[in-house]
Amino acid sequence: MRIFEEIKKIQDWCKEQKMLGKKIGLVPTMGYLHEGHLALVREARKHCDIVVVSIFVNPIQFGVGEDFEVYPRDFARDTELLEQEKVDAVFAPSNEEMYCRDSSTRVEVTGEIAEKLCGASRPGHFRGVTTVCSKLFNICLPDLAVFGQKDAQQVMVLEKMVRELNFPLEIIRVPIVREADGLAMSSRNVYLDPEARKQAIVLNKALGETAEAIQSGERDTARLKSRLREIIESSPRAEIDYAEIYDAYDLADVSEVDKQVIVALAVKFGRTRLIDNRLVEV
Ligand code: PAJ
Repeated sequence: MRIFEEIKKIQDWCKEQKMLGKKIGLVPTMGYLHEGHLALVREARKHCDIVVVSIFVNPIQFGVGEDFEVYPRDFARDTELLEQEKVDAVFAPSNEEMYCRDSSTRVEVTGEIAEKLCGASRPGHFRGVTTVCSKLFNICLPDLAVFGQKDAQQVMVLEKMVRELNFPLEIIRVPIVREADGLAMSSRNVYLDPEARKQAIVLNKALGETAEAIQSGERDTARLKSRLREIIESSPRAEIDYAEIYDAYDLADVSEVDKQVIVALAVKFGRTRLIDNRLVEV
């Protein structure tokens, strides 16, 4: 497995691979890898000859007072896991390599899709994500990039960016990988103390009950949302950031569930903010 820290070196290597006719799959990550990330790597492998994984805790997608400094990192373990997955190359640049001192170019998707949910709670977050992913696409020249449904809004925003800026690549979504008790895997789960960890299963439970209610014929989103909040609030440590139901394609408001919707949650347990979601068909 090749490990690159310099943009020019991995970009030249990717160009070479393309000249040899190889199809490149990119899996962008911030490291501290778990089975959710590895599911993305395996999906990329199914479609591509060359799998590149980036590990970069992207400073510009974190807001002031968020967890950039303490975001968990374990590069040695990450590379060991990726080696086992037979990944071809890891791109792990420094902050200085990715953002030169006077870096001021940003890529931004505007509109509801980027401004609701995490866009509202974390101003500037998606601009950081779309900027770093644009850079990663230009550096690694992928034919395909793989993202998790865990960050549903992120992948919606990125798909819109790829369509509208004509990036010559396909985005593939991978379903959410969960722990045995239903908690969505996340690098941030390590922040949870044992009691919060126990209570955190309420997110998946609330999503499941909402999906069941819709499937049993409930169509009124106001009623569904108030029940959703009730279930989460039954956990004493849970503090809701948002609990919403929107159109699954563009996050438009829906008052009656008459098409595929996304039930999306962000819930804090102390300082740890967890997100989860579920797509529900009618
Ligand atoms: P990170 O949180 O490390 O996640 C990297 C990728 O793994 C994302 O596409 C995310 O949706 C996916 N992922 C995380 N947990 C998952 C789970 N339980 N099941 C399935 N997929 C999961 O998301 C980011 O990094 C960054 O914003 C990034 C896209 C790398 C840009 O900096």
